[in-house]
Amino acid sequence: MASLNFDLTGKVAIVTGGTGGLGLAIAEAMLDAGAKVAVGSRKPEKVAAALETLSEGRPEGSVLSTQLDVADRASVDAAVAKVVETFGRVDILVNNAGANLKKPTLDVEEAEHKQLFDINYFGPFYMAQAFARQCIAQGKPDEDASGGGGYSIVNVCSVTSFLALSEVTTYAATKGALLALTRQLAVEWPRLYGIRINAVAPGFVPAEQNRKILESGDRGRRILECTPMQRFGTAEEIAGAAVFLVSPAARFINGECINVDGGFMIHGVSDSMKPIE
Ligand SMILES: NC(=O)c1ccc[n+]([C@@H]2O[C@H](COP(=O)([O-])OP(=O)(O)OC[C@H]3O[C@@H](n4cnc5c(N)ncnc54)[C@H](OP(=O)(O)O)[C@@H]3O)[C@@H](O)[C@H]2O)c1
Repeated sequence: MASLNFDLTGKVAIVTGGTGGLGLAIAEAMLDAGAKVAVGSRKPEKVAAALETLSEGRPEGSVLSTQLDVADRASVDAAVAKVVETFGRVDILVNNAGANLKKPTLDVEEAEHKQLFDINYFGPFYMAQAFARQCIAQGKPDEDASGGGGYSIVNVCSVTSFLALSEVTTYAATKGALLALTRQLAVEWPRLYGIRINAVAPGFVPAEQNRKILESGDRGRRILECTPMQRFGTAEEIAGAAVFLVSPAARFINGECINVDGGFMIHGVSDSMKPIE
């Protein structure tokens, strides 16, 4: 029987928004698994800091950090071209870049609604198209030679891809659309281009865009009450699922979304839980 293989040696991964929060941890985990990694985001200071962090202790030439606005198709095409110029190919895309907006739905302005869709939905869509075009140019992967796994996309969804939370209507709509995109591509692209498409749905992980909401006030406390594991997640815990999904070990997993949420999604109503003495 062939042994399980989580090794990404020889593969090139792009992690959008890989300059902070979950994306930086995903980029580090892909490097640890042997891939060469390109990260990108809008702010030059974050792009520079990510290069420094990710390069530390790594072989020269294993990291690229570039400016990228996923909401801008020209920027997406330029970034993918830069990855190919630097590393010669692409194998893995993690659509992680994203933004949040919490306010009462009646107060959401059209421009805010559209901007969030531009980043959270159209961004992954543009990236997936640019990535797939490059995969097609490289040719369909030989399953045996690549150790299985082939080309792979992971979309970073959310618990709001499945269920509703108050006052994040636009965000939830974008993440619901991203899950639908994951399933659509997963039906079309494996047999045409050898690309598997999956998703992870992180639970609640304190990061730049949500730290204030999670760590102050009532909402964070109530989230913890509905999380059987009684804590927030860490970026590394999300990264583990992403590495698994793009690895040869997951070569028959396609169109799936892994919830990494300490059980939040399966929680109904329980008695208030006292810690075990
Ligand atoms: N943290 C959680 O609890 C949680 C839960 C569920 C889902 N998620 C999802 O996980 C992903 C990462 O979130 P995070 O919590 O790590 O947030 P974060 O710390 O705010 O990081 C977001 C990253 O995306 C980049 N970014 C934002 N807009 C971009 C754009 N237009 N083009 C390129 N890069 C862009 C940011 O860099 P720049 O500012 O430099 O562009 C930053 O590096 C998001 O898709 C989010 O929706 C997070």
